[in-house]
Amino acid sequence: MKAIVQDAQQNLSWGDVPTPLPKAGEVAISVKATAVNRADLMQRKGLYPPPLGASEIMGLECAGTISAVGPGVTGWQVGESVCALLTGGGYAETVVCPAGHVLPLPSGYSFAQGAAIVEVYATAWLNIFLEGAAKLGERVLIHAGASGVGTAAIQLCKALGNPCFVTVGSQPKLDFCLKLGASAGCLRQDNHFEERVRDWSQGAGVDVILDCVGADYLDANLRSLNTDGRLVLIGIMGGRTASIDLGRMLIKRLKVWGSTLRSRDNQSKTALIRSLREQVWPRFEKGELRSIIHAEYPIQEVERAFADIASNANIGKIVLTV
Ligand SMILES: NC(=O)c1ccc[n+]([C@@H]2O[C@H](COP(=O)([O-])OP(=O)(O)OC[C@H]3O[C@@H](n4cnc5c(N)ncnc54)[C@H](OP(=O)(O)O)[C@@H]3O)[C@@H](O)[C@H]2O)c1
Repeated sequence: MKAIVQDAQQNLSWGDVPTPLPKAGEVAISVKATAVNRADLMQRKGLYPPPLGASEIMGLECAGTISAVGPGVTGWQVGESVCALLTGGGYAETVVCPAGHVLPLPSGYSFAQGAAIVEVYATAWLNIFLEGAAKLGERVLIHAGASGVGTAAIQLCKALGNPCFVTVGSQPKLDFCLKLGASAGCLRQDNHFEERVRDWSQGAGVDVILDCVGADYLDANLRSLNTDGRLVLIGIMGGRTASIDLGRMLIKRLKVWGSTLRSRDNQSKTALIRSLREQVWPRFEKGELRSIIHAEYPIQEVERAFADIASNANIGKIVLTV
């Protein structure tokens, strides 16, 4: 089969590799579309190696049709249209993954739309509503609101009754987020989001923060949290080392923790996918949630897609069609 392969100089090409076969409990998917994640850019540079046993090929999500089922798999048939959360291998004509990491393609969705929803909704759902335990009406701060994850997070917050504030890098991105359902927001270049958050929340602060920035925002994030607030760290685009005001943590009873999706074991991902299927997927059918696609390129143009992501140009996801 064909897949995006990488040489020692980090050049990418659509080359030949062996076709993977499903083992017990796995399915094979004939990939029609996949989508780009920041992690792929890091993996290419050797900064985010795949977990032990995972495919060396990039690609953390896909949509396509089931082409084979391994021994012991129930619930999926050859030919069904699906989307899936992957530990790797999505930038290829065929990928295998545990049957429990597969979701039906929402009805009326194209493969491109399906490829753009799995990773971002899994990340936003897991970290705001399961880990972050956002309750009805609690306020949420979402950094990088126009990112793939951010656009999913805004829609989930709106659908579940959580007012949210976003930070973004440009006015068009802010306008987009407000239209999508964010209650308020500011440009990150202002450097004072905590003041804006304080005004917006009438001094109370927010209850949950979904943060992909890390060090640069740590102090302002802690100042933006309400008593019993939760900060879920999902990325470190703004640095990995910072000092922390433990006094503030203590007095406000704050919780801060890190969370990655890819490194979780199969069982925990299966539980997450089940929860997504029950709680989130019906909302696509009802039109409460949608796929936000910035651009769609043939997979052979992966360099172009990576350049868009690296320059922070995208609002929502960039899809690669196979
Ligand atoms: N832990 C997990 O399991 C997990 C899973 C998926 C994604 N992630 C992380 O979540 C983040 C969003 O992922 P994504 O794929 O949705 O990203 P994306 O679509 O590529 O968007 C990322 C956006 O972040 C903003 N940004 C870039 N550098 C920044 C900086 N130094 N400080 C503040 N903002 C910055 C830019 O938007 P503006 O122009 O608006 O600033 C950029 O467009 C990434 O950090 C990714 O690694 C984590």
